[in-house]
Amino acid sequence: MKQDQSKTPAMEGEVFYPPKNITRRANVKDYDQLYKQSIEDREGFWAEQAKRLKWYKKWDKVLDDSKKPFYKWFVGGKINIIQNAIDRHLHTWRRNKLALIWEGEPGDLRTFSYHALNREVSKFANILRSMGVKKGDIVTIYMPQIPELAFSMLACAKIGAAHSVVYGGFSVEALAERIADAKSRVLVTADGGWRRGKINDLKNIVDEAIKRSPTIESCIVVKRTGQEVYMESGRDFWYHDLITLPIACTNGCETEKTDAEDPLFILYTSGTTGKPKGLVHTHGGYSVYTSTTHNYVFDIKEEDRWWCAADPGWITGHSYIVYGPLINGATVMMYEGAPNYPYPNRWWQMIEKYGITILYTSPTAIRGLMRFGDEWPKRYNLSSLRLLGSVGEPINPEAWRWYHTVIGDNKCPIMDTWWQTETGGFLITPLPITPLKPGSATKPFFGNEVAVVDDNGNEVKTGEEGKLVIKSPWPGMARTIYGDPDRFIETYWKDFEKQGWYKAGDSARVDKDGYYWIIGRIDDVIKVSGYRLGTAEIESALVSHSAVSEAAAIGLPHELKGNAIHAFVILKAGTEATPQLANELRNHVASEVGPIAKPEDVTFVDTLPKTRSGKIMRRVLKAKALGQDVGDLSTLEE
Ligand code: WTA
Repeated sequence: MKQDQSKTPAMEGEVFYPPKNITRRANVKDYDQLYKQSIEDREGFWAEQAKRLKWYKKWDKVLDDSKKPFYKWFVGGKINIIQNAIDRHLHTWRRNKLALIWEGEPGDLRTFSYHALNREVSKFANILRSMGVKKGDIVTIYMPQIPELAFSMLACAKIGAAHSVVYGGFSVEALAERIADAKSRVLVTADGGWRRGKINDLKNIVDEAIKRSPTIESCIVVKRTGQEVYMESGRDFWYHDLITLPIACTNGCETEKTDAEDPLFILYTSGTTGKPKGLVHTHGGYSVYTSTTHNYVFDIKEEDRWWCAADPGWITGHSYIVYGPLINGATVMMYEGAPNYPYPNRWWQMIEKYGITILYTSPTAIRGLMRFGDEWPKRYNLSSLRLLGSVGEPINPEAWRWYHTVIGDNKCPIMDTWWQTETGGFLITPLPITPLKPGSATKPFFGNEVAVVDDNGNEVKTGEEGKLVIKSPWPGMARTIYGDPDRFIETYWKDFEKQGWYKAGDSARVDKDGYYWIIGRIDDVIKVSGYRLGTAEIESALVSHSAVSEAAAIGLPHELKGNAIHAFVILKAGTEATPQLANELRNHVASEVGPIAKPEDVTFVDTLPKTRSGKIMRRVLKAKALGQDVGDLSTLEE
């Protein structure tokens, strides 16, 4: 059954009020008042938040908007995110607090106090430094979900280098492209990672990708899965050998005193063209934004055990597994493998075992676990949970209610946080005190002015669908697209240039109570299981196959994944359209881009709907597939 999850009837009348024990202790007591204040004096609000962090040198100016849309925050300030995520905790009792609880898929357990985290990160940082990595460099990280993924990210930040994490589910072409764009000299990887009892053979993919990446000089390999892998002498180094070197063994490593606007990382995400965009985030604004949002929205308390079940390879993991929570001195849970491996009790068992108090995950994961039935979670004591969270795609009210009732025992408010790789942190989100409507991300976070508008920038009527725009700058915003500032303007700022607004690329509605309902992407981005993919990446993988002449990819609603990819292919003359070939093409996309990009099906066609200028009209394909009105066809060539 095809059901558009985002279009399940909106339950605007259905409101859930937060329980008293939550509101009484909430970090924010009055949303309306603080929101008003944050809009009237945005810079004052953010300066106040920034004061909760440690700065080597205080900023001269909170916001520099002289070169819009290239905003700068906390200009003149000196800060390193590590100074706040690790260093300052070492001088307090938090030194002995658990920073990280990690469980591997086979069941192995590793824990690290903040003291231990500092030791591990310092070792890694010393190794990177000894390889000549310094400020201005970008280290590519391609890892399974193991502690060393976080350590290597933090180590780069510590020495002032930027990292570029490539999700471990991506494949050769995707990895090679990202290495090339970042011009990385050093790559950090592992032999493999565990997923559903099988080894995800990362090193093999790395070897292939390096063949296409002349910039790579050294590759650090963490041993995780232990199978035999190829190691090229002089290029590949085992991490466990490197850390025995005297240079790594010293207890400390000085944290680089970076500028607030120095790049912390670039993270590639999908866009309209095949070339991925590297969004740039910085030490200062990003530290302030991730820690403030995490603190207010998830109401972090000293005794919390926080579990964001995303992959650190995506923005959610960057902001809310690694940086935001560590800045707030939280205990972070991290898990390597599949939620239902070996049985669908895995998550619930871990929540009981580790006493998790806050769980933050995606609607896809919730739907996936929901389908196994209530018996699995019901076997466990989940009473430690206080708050729940959702991210990555609209949550359908049915999944929302299950999450609320079965997992949260009707006592845990669900924070449905809307945001993007570009925004660095939550932009539209409830607080624990917010009355909730299932399926709505509720209201803008402090300091943010948001609207739903038509193409001319006029606000649409209450309840009508329009384009989501952000009217004001925020500290966590991406500063640019790495190496391509024109594309940054073109993609996000061009459509509402006159007004100076940021175009999110999503459509949305606002209801009579001012609640935002996100409908979904209106560009060439497809959200598959919450993962973000570009139609162009899939299409270019398809046309790289010798049998393919032209290709188009679209997303269609899928009950579990939210959206699934459907491909339409024109074959080269003389090639026979067979089911075997369709399968081969699906596998070809999986091996070039990654298994998550594997199309649900491939349909062979003779023509594709195109504009007169030759652009494929994907919306026509989509409307036809859904049996909807294809709309205005005046620009269609034939
Ligand atoms: C979608 C993920 C509805 C949206 C953090 C956005 C959501 C895209 C929500 C960004 C939500 C994210 N409700 N849709 N709570 N959160 N999205 O860059 O389409 O991987 O534009 O960042 O995810 O995806 P990205």
